[in-house]
Amino acid sequence: MTLNYKILLFLALCICNAESADPLGQFCNTGSGSQISANIDRLLAELVSKTPSYGFIATSYGRNPYQVFGLAQCRGDVSSTDCSSCIQDAAKQIRQRCPNQADARIWYDYCFLRYSTKNFTGEIDTYNGILYGNVETVTDPDTFNKELETLFDQIRAQAVETRNEGLGKGKTKLSTFVTLYALVQCTRDLALVDCAQCLAIAAGNFEKFCKDRKGCRVLYSSCYVRYELYPFFFPLIFKPNRTLADTVMAILP
Ligand SMILES: *[C@@H]1O[C@H](CO)[C@@H](O)[C@H](O)[C@H]1NC(C)=O
Ligand SMILES: *[C@@H]1O[C@H](CO)[C@@H](O)[C@H](O)[C@H]1NC(C)=O
Repeated sequence: MTLNYKILLFLALCICNAESADPLGQFCNTGSGSQISANIDRLLAELVSKTPSYGFIATSYGRNPYQVFGLAQCRGDVSSTDCSSCIQDAAKQIRQRCPNQADARIWYDYCFLRYSTKNFTGEIDTYNGILYGNVETVTDPDTFNKELETLFDQIRAQAVETRNEGLGKGKTKLSTFVTLYALVQCTRDLALVDCAQCLAIAAGNFEKFCKDRKGCRVLYSSCYVRYELYPFFFPLIFKPNRTLADTVMAILP
Protein backbone atom coordinates (compact mmCIF):
# COMPACT_ATOMS: atom_id res chain seq x y z
CA MET A 1 0.00 0.00 0.00
CA THR A 2 2.18 2.80 -1.29
CA LEU A 3 -0.58 5.32 -0.70
CA ASN A 4 -0.87 4.57 3.01
CA TYR A 5 2.86 4.74 3.35
CA LYS A 6 2.91 8.18 1.80
CA ILE A 7 0.11 9.35 4.03
CA LEU A 8 2.01 8.17 7.09
CA LEU A 9 5.05 10.10 6.00
CA PHE A 10 2.95 13.23 5.71
CA LEU A 11 1.41 12.59 9.10
CA ALA A 12 4.78 12.91 10.73
CA LEU A 13 5.23 16.29 9.09
CA CYS A 14 1.78 17.60 9.49
CA ILE A 15 0.63 18.45 12.94
CA CYS A 16 -1.77 20.75 11.24
CA ASN A 17 -2.57 23.38 13.75
CA ALA A 18 -3.87 26.83 13.13
CA GLU A 19 -1.89 28.25 16.03
CA SER A 20 1.46 26.99 14.81
CA ALA A 21 3.81 29.38 13.04
CA ASP A 22 4.18 26.77 10.32
CA PRO A 23 1.93 27.59 7.41
CA LEU A 24 -0.32 25.09 5.67
CA GLY A 25 1.51 25.91 2.49
CA GLN A 26 3.29 28.51 0.47
CA PHE A 27 3.90 29.35 -3.12
CA CYS A 28 6.95 31.24 -4.38
CA ASN A 29 7.30 32.45 -7.93
CA THR A 30 9.76 34.56 -9.97
CA GLY A 31 12.77 36.39 -8.57
CA SER A 32 13.03 40.06 -7.65
CA GLY A 33 15.66 42.76 -7.37
CA SER A 34 16.76 44.67 -4.31
CA GLN A 35 14.49 47.70 -4.86
CA ILE A 36 11.49 45.40 -5.05
CA SER A 37 12.73 43.53 -2.04
CA ALA A 38 12.89 46.74 -0.02
CA ASN A 39 9.36 47.62 -1.12
CA ILE A 40 8.14 44.17 -0.11
CA ASP A 41 9.47 44.79 3.39
CA ARG A 42 7.61 48.11 3.60
CA LEU A 43 4.48 46.52 2.21
CA LEU A 44 4.61 43.66 4.71
CA ALA A 45 5.00 46.10 7.59
CA GLU A 46 1.84 47.83 6.45
CA LEU A 47 -0.05 44.55 6.10
CA VAL A 48 1.00 43.52 9.61
CA SER A 49 -0.08 46.80 11.18
CA LYS A 50 -3.31 47.39 9.27
CA THR A 51 -4.91 43.97 8.72
CA PRO A 52 -6.08 43.13 12.28
CA SER A 53 -8.46 46.07 12.77
CA TYR A 54 -10.60 45.29 9.73
CA GLY A 55 -9.50 41.71 9.00
CA PHE A 56 -8.54 42.58 5.46
CA ILE A 57 -6.35 44.88 3.44
CA ALA A 58 -5.39 45.15 -0.22
CA THR A 59 -2.76 47.78 -0.86
CA SER A 60 0.44 48.55 -2.71
CA TYR A 61 3.81 50.09 -2.04
CA GLY A 62 6.31 51.86 -4.28
CA ARG A 63 6.21 53.07 -7.85
CA ASN A 64 6.22 51.31 -11.15
CA PRO A 65 8.33 49.29 -12.05
CA TYR A 66 9.13 48.54 -8.42
CA GLN A 67 5.58 48.69 -7.16
CA VAL A 68 4.38 45.71 -5.14
CA PHE A 69 0.78 44.81 -4.45
CA GLY A 70 -0.25 43.06 -1.29
CA LEU A 71 -3.29 41.45 0.20
CA ALA A 72 -3.78 40.07 3.68
CA GLN A 73 -6.93 38.65 5.16
CA CYS A 74 -8.02 36.78 8.23
CA ARG A 75 -10.90 34.35 8.28
CA GLY A 76 -14.05 36.26 9.21
CA ASP A 77 -14.65 34.33 12.45
CA VAL A 78 -11.14 34.95 13.83
CA SER A 79 -10.60 37.61 16.53
CA SER A 80 -8.34 40.58 15.83
CA THR A 81 -5.82 39.24 18.36
CA ASP A 82 -5.56 35.89 16.59
CA CYS A 83 -5.62 37.71 13.29
CA SER A 84 -2.71 39.88 14.34
CA SER A 85 -0.50 36.98 15.41
CA CYS A 86 -1.38 35.02 12.28
CA ILE A 87 -0.46 37.91 9.97
CA GLN A 88 2.77 38.47 11.89
CA ASP A 89 3.73 34.82 11.44
CA ALA A 90 2.71 34.96 7.80
CA ALA A 91 4.80 38.06 7.05
CA LYS A 92 7.83 36.56 8.75
CA GLN A 93 7.50 33.10 7.23
CA ILE A 94 6.79 34.31 3.70
CA ARG A 95 10.06 36.26 3.72
CA GLN A 96 11.98 33.25 5.04
CA ARG A 97 10.38 30.76 2.70
CA CYS A 98 10.27 32.95 -0.40
CA PRO A 99 13.32 35.18 0.17
CA ASN A 100 13.75 36.52 -3.35
CA GLN A 101 10.37 36.26 -4.92
CA ALA A 102 8.26 39.01 -6.37
CA ASP A 103 5.17 36.79 -6.28
CA ALA A 104 4.51 34.87 -3.10
CA ARG A 105 1.58 33.52 -1.11
CA ILE A 106 1.26 31.85 2.24
CA TRP A 107 -1.69 30.00 3.71
CA TYR A 108 -2.75 29.44 7.29
CA ASP A 109 -6.10 28.40 8.68
CA TYR A 110 -6.62 31.77 10.30
CA CYS A 111 -5.15 33.97 7.59
CA PHE A 112 -3.76 34.33 4.11
CA LEU A 113 -1.11 36.72 2.81
CA ARG A 114 0.05 37.43 -0.69
CA TYR A 115 2.14 39.93 -2.63
CA SER A 116 3.13 40.39 -6.23
CA THR A 117 4.58 42.95 -8.62
CA LYS A 118 1.40 42.46 -10.61
CA ASN A 119 -1.90 43.97 -9.46
CA PHE A 120 -3.97 40.88 -8.74
CA THR A 121 -6.64 42.68 -6.70
CA GLY A 122 -10.14 41.61 -7.65
CA GLU A 123 -8.98 38.73 -9.83
CA ILE A 124 -10.23 35.26 -9.08
CA ASP A 125 -7.35 32.82 -8.68
CA THR A 126 -7.89 29.10 -8.35
CA TYR A 127 -4.41 27.97 -9.35
CA ASN A 128 -1.87 26.55 -6.92
CA GLY A 129 -4.38 25.25 -4.42
CA ILE A 130 -3.57 23.13 -1.42
CA LEU A 131 -5.77 20.34 -0.22
CA TYR A 132 -5.80 18.64 3.15
CA GLY A 133 -7.95 15.62 3.75
CA ASN A 134 -8.67 13.50 6.80
CA VAL A 135 -7.30 9.97 6.36
CA GLU A 136 -10.48 8.47 7.81
CA THR A 137 -13.69 7.97 5.91
CA VAL A 138 -17.27 8.17 7.11
CA THR A 139 -19.35 5.08 7.83
CA ASP A 140 -22.52 6.26 6.12
CA PRO A 141 -21.41 8.05 2.95
CA ASP A 142 -24.88 8.43 1.41
CA THR A 143 -26.37 10.42 4.28
CA PHE A 144 -23.10 12.20 4.89
CA ASN A 145 -22.71 13.43 1.33
CA LYS A 146 -26.32 14.57 1.15
CA GLU A 147 -25.97 16.56 4.38
CA LEU A 148 -22.62 17.94 3.28
CA GLU A 149 -24.08 19.18 0.02
CA THR A 150 -27.07 20.79 1.73
CA LEU A 151 -24.87 22.51 4.29
CA PHE A 152 -22.49 23.75 1.62
CA ASP A 153 -25.34 25.15 -0.44
CA GLN A 154 -26.46 27.11 2.63
CA ILE A 155 -23.09 28.51 3.60
CA ARG A 156 -22.13 29.35 0.03
CA ALA A 157 -25.34 31.36 -0.26
CA GLN A 158 -24.44 33.08 3.02
CA ALA A 159 -20.94 33.92 1.80
CA VAL A 160 -22.21 35.88 -1.19
CA GLU A 161 -24.53 38.11 0.82
CA THR A 162 -22.81 41.49 0.87
CA ARG A 163 -22.96 41.91 4.66
CA ASN A 164 -21.16 38.60 5.25
CA GLU A 165 -18.04 39.68 3.36
CA GLY A 166 -17.33 36.33 1.79
CA LEU A 167 -17.81 34.27 4.94
CA GLY A 168 -20.29 31.42 5.33
CA LYS A 169 -20.34 28.92 8.17
CA GLY A 170 -22.71 26.45 9.69
CA LYS A 171 -23.24 23.07 11.23
CA THR A 172 -25.67 20.27 10.97
CA LYS A 173 -26.37 17.35 13.28
CA LEU A 174 -25.82 14.00 11.59
CA SER A 175 -26.78 11.97 14.65
CA THR A 176 -27.03 12.39 18.42
CA PHE A 177 -23.28 12.47 18.78
CA VAL A 178 -22.03 13.57 15.40
CA THR A 179 -22.14 17.11 14.03
CA LEU A 180 -20.79 18.31 10.72
CA TYR A 181 -19.14 21.75 10.68
CA ALA A 182 -18.34 23.69 7.53
CA LEU A 183 -16.93 27.06 6.62
CA VAL A 184 -16.23 28.93 3.41
CA GLN A 185 -14.40 32.21 2.98
CA CYS A 186 -13.55 34.30 -0.07
CA THR A 187 -10.96 37.06 -0.11
CA ARG A 188 -12.79 40.34 0.28
CA ASP A 189 -11.44 41.92 -2.90
CA LEU A 190 -13.55 39.53 -5.00
CA ALA A 191 -16.85 40.45 -6.61
CA LEU A 192 -19.65 38.28 -5.23
CA VAL A 193 -20.08 36.46 -8.51
CA ASP A 194 -16.38 35.56 -8.49
CA CYS A 195 -16.64 34.51 -4.87
CA ALA A 196 -19.46 32.13 -5.80
CA GLN A 197 -17.35 30.74 -8.62
CA CYS A 198 -14.27 30.26 -6.45
CA LEU A 199 -16.28 28.43 -3.80
CA ALA A 200 -17.87 26.19 -6.41
CA ILE A 201 -14.47 25.27 -7.85
CA ALA A 202 -12.98 24.71 -4.40
CA ALA A 203 -15.84 22.51 -3.17
CA GLY A 204 -15.77 20.71 -6.52
CA ASN A 205 -12.52 19.08 -5.37
CA PHE A 206 -14.26 17.23 -2.53
CA GLU A 207 -15.74 14.60 -4.80
CA LYS A 208 -12.45 13.88 -6.50
CA PHE A 209 -9.90 14.16 -3.69
CA CYS A 210 -11.90 13.85 -0.49
CA LYS A 211 -14.63 11.41 -1.35
CA ASP A 212 -16.31 10.23 1.89
CA ARG A 213 -13.54 11.68 4.02
CA LYS A 214 -14.30 12.89 7.54
CA GLY A 215 -12.71 16.23 6.86
CA CYS A 216 -11.36 18.22 3.96
CA ARG A 217 -9.87 21.63 3.32
CA VAL A 218 -9.10 23.37 0.04
CA LEU A 219 -7.02 26.53 0.06
CA TYR A 220 -6.83 28.78 -2.96
CA SER A 221 -5.54 32.33 -3.26
CA SER A 222 -9.12 33.57 -3.63
CA CYS A 223 -11.03 31.30 -1.29
CA TYR A 224 -10.93 28.70 1.46
CA VAL A 225 -13.40 25.88 2.06
CA ARG A 226 -13.42 23.33 4.85
CA TYR A 227 -15.58 20.79 6.61
CA GLU A 228 -14.89 18.62 9.66
CA LEU A 229 -16.71 16.40 12.11
CA TYR A 230 -15.44 18.59 14.93
CA PRO A 231 -15.80 22.31 15.61
CA PHE A 232 -12.97 24.33 14.10
CA PHE A 233 -14.42 27.81 13.73
CA PHE A 234 -15.28 30.44 16.31
CA PRO A 235 -17.06 30.57 18.65
CA LEU A 236 -15.47 27.26 19.63
CA ILE A 237 -17.51 25.14 22.01
CA PHE A 238 -14.41 23.28 23.10
CA LYS A 239 -10.91 23.14 21.80
CA PRO A 240 -10.50 19.91 19.92
CA ASN A 241 -7.36 17.93 20.68
CA ARG A 242 -4.77 18.19 17.99
CA THR A 243 -5.60 15.67 15.37
CA LEU A 244 -2.92 13.81 13.56
CA ALA A 245 -5.43 12.46 11.13
CA ASP A 246 -5.13 15.40 8.77
CA THR A 247 -2.76 15.09 5.90
CA VAL A 248 -1.81 16.74 2.67
CA MET A 249 -3.61 14.87 -0.04
CA ALA A 250 -2.85 16.92 -3.08
CA ILE A 251 -1.32 20.04 -4.44
CA LEU A 252 -3.91 21.22 -6.91
CA PRO A 253 -2.63 22.37 -10.29
C1 LIG B 1 -5.49 47.25 -8.79
O1 LIG B 1 -6.60 46.76 -9.52
C2 LIG B 1 -7.85 47.05 -8.94
C3 LIG B 1 -8.92 46.30 -9.73
O2 LIG B 1 -8.77 46.51 -11.10
C4 LIG B 1 -8.08 48.55 -8.91
O3 LIG B 1 -9.32 48.85 -8.31
C5 LIG B 1 -6.95 49.18 -8.10
O4 LIG B 1 -7.09 50.58 -8.11
C6 LIG B 1 -5.60 48.78 -8.65
N1 LIG B 1 -4.58 49.25 -7.71
C7 LIG B 1 -3.61 50.09 -8.09
C8 LIG B 1 -2.71 50.56 -6.98
O5 LIG B 1 -3.44 50.43 -9.23
C1 LIG C 1 -8.06 15.30 24.79
O1 LIG C 1 -6.88 14.93 25.46
C2 LIG C 1 -7.02 14.82 26.88
C3 LIG C 1 -5.65 14.57 27.50
O2 LIG C 1 -4.80 13.86 26.64
C4 LIG C 1 -8.02 13.71 27.19
O3 LIG C 1 -8.17 13.57 28.59
C5 LIG C 1 -9.36 14.08 26.56
O4 LIG C 1 -10.30 13.04 26.77
C6 LIG C 1 -9.20 14.33 25.06
N1 LIG C 1 -10.44 14.86 24.53
C7 LIG C 1 -10.99 14.42 23.41
C8 LIG C 1 -12.24 15.11 22.98
O5 LIG C 1 -10.52 13.51 22.75
